[in-house]
Amino acid sequence: MAADFVVREATHDDIPAMSAIYGREAREGHATFDVEPRSHQAWSAYVESRAPGDVALVAADATGVLGYAYSTAYRPKPAYGHTRESTVYVDPSAQGRGIGRALYAELIERMRRAGVHVVVAGIALPNDASTRLHTSCGFTPVGTFREVGRKLDRWIDVEFYQLTL
Ligand SMILES: CC(C)(COP(=O)(O)OP(=O)(O)OC[C@H]1O[C@@H](n2cnc3c(N)ncnc32)[C@H](O)[C@@H]1OP(=O)(O)O)[C@@H](O)C(=O)NCCC(=O)NCCS
Repeated sequence: MAADFVVREATHDDIPAMSAIYGREAREGHATFDVEPRSHQAWSAYVESRAPGDVALVAADATGVLGYAYSTAYRPKPAYGHTRESTVYVDPSAQGRGIGRALYAELIERMRRAGVHVVVAGIALPNDASTRLHTSCGFTPVGTFREVGRKLDRWIDVEFYQLTL
């Protein structure tokens, strides 16, 4: 069946919708260790970055933005320059329709074309959907930091994954 959404580059106009999806998870979920929505300035940095390997995408249909994925520098030191960290969020009302998969497929392809060598992702556990998405896109688990997060009154492990392009 043809997808009923498109994946395209994120623009400034998409920031309120991206921020709303993230803000909900920040306040109510454990996928991010933020506890408050992120500033408009922070979102602008993702959308505006022209560094090779920095990609910001949204999935959208006629109703608006359904989800987003972006890649950022893993760490600022120069020797990490060929490594990116990836992130993906889909609005709860649109999950399970292949949108995360489509966003990641395009994100990974664009990073590959830009010369990225390794993609890193950290998954706060448990997160069956994200674990499945990452393994199904070729990421492999490389280790787990135990109880590095505390949110919603519990300790949270973070499992790291990497994809070598
Ligand atoms: C993780 C997330 C991005 C997945 O996006 P999605 O659009 O719902 O996922 P898709 O429909 O593309 O499915 C991707 C894969 O995960 C599987 N999957 C989806 N939801 C699942 C669930 N609840 N449990 C187990 N597997 C699940 C699908 O079957 C599919 O597997 P396949 O590739 O082997 O066919 C989405 O659930 C989400 O935004 N969650 C909240 C934020 C979050 O956790 N972000 C990731 C931070 S690391």
